[in-house]
Amino acid sequence: MHSRRALLYMPGDNWKMITKSITLGVDSICMDMEDGTAVNKKAEARATIAKALQELDFGTSEKLARINSVGSGWEKDDIEAVLPYKPDGIVIPKVESFEQVEWASRIIEDAELKNGWQVNSIRILIGVETAKGILNLKEIASHPRLDAIIFGGEDFAASIGATRTKDAIELLYARQGVIVACAAYDIQPIDIVTINYKDLDALKLESEFGARLGFSGKQVIHPHQVPVVQAAFTPSAEAVAYAKRIVETFEASQKEGKGAYSLDGKMIDMPLLKNAQKVLARAKADDRP
Ligand code: COA
Ligand code: MG
Repeated sequence: MHSRRALLYMPGDNWKMITKSITLGVDSICMDMEDGTAVNKKAEARATIAKALQELDFGTSEKLARINSVGSGWEKDDIEAVLPYKPDGIVIPKVESFEQVEWASRIIEDAELKNGWQVNSIRILIGVETAKGILNLKEIASHPRLDAIIFGGEDFAASIGATRTKDAIELLYARQGVIVACAAYDIQPIDIVTINYKDLDALKLESEFGARLGFSGKQVIHPHQVPVVQAAFTPSAEAVAYAKRIVETFEASQKEGKGAYSLDGKMIDMPLLKNAQKVLARAKADDRP
């Protein structure tokens, strides 16, 4: 699965931002037709994204297009405008049911078959950002074409009538709900946008907290946010070294017939080994050109 530490949005009609985004070394680039694009610019966004997919070299950045929500009335024109140019994935916002993911998956599979592309090569990422979406996570997250669930904090707060605060305590239940659903189906949970994009200290704290909760990446809206988020979602050299020591010493202790043992004054047993293996897997996934 593509590593998605930072997922950068820009309005799909903004050619300048799209061309800027491919210079940033960002993990994922999400050209938006939904809320980042004004209602009178939807058609222009479709055409501009189609042009970008045809003409630009995205390098190692993943190229994604976000369509409008299923039921908005725009979704069919959105997906049909970009699919022929083979994005790496389609992002569907405000998903509330499995059927909405299946709707897009069928259209994508038709395009894959028609063009001779490998079936399932174009992935789906979804936004879950409403009360119904959180309630239905269990069935939604089971869709086989899903790679990631993106949690939309602002939309969710509006959906439940919560007031957003700096430490985002009002979002904790839903954020953890998304993480649990993703862990159960082995897909990636992607955290909220820090909309106060000029405050990079706040961004760092929020990113590190998200990483500790178990998110694998975070949405960003401005180039300055990219390196801060990438750093927070990359395991540190110390964390990797410690994880390696756990793996090594665990093996030795198993051979001695000990399930639990002591390392630097801390008890190590199976769950700590599993966590260490996750850290190493994440570090490996981030180790890309
Ligand atoms: N992607 C790529 N490039 C971006 C960018 C983005 N999301 N946001 C800003 N830039 C570029 C600008 O074009 C500018 O480029 P330049 O130096 O070549 O002229 C540079 O980065 C600095 O931008 P800045 O002037 O600081 O930002 P701004 O005031 O023009 O825009 C926002 C601020 C928030 C309006 C803008 O960042 C934005 O539209 N972000 C995306 C919002 C979005 O897509 N929301 C929906 C999903 S949540
Ligand atoms: Mg949203």
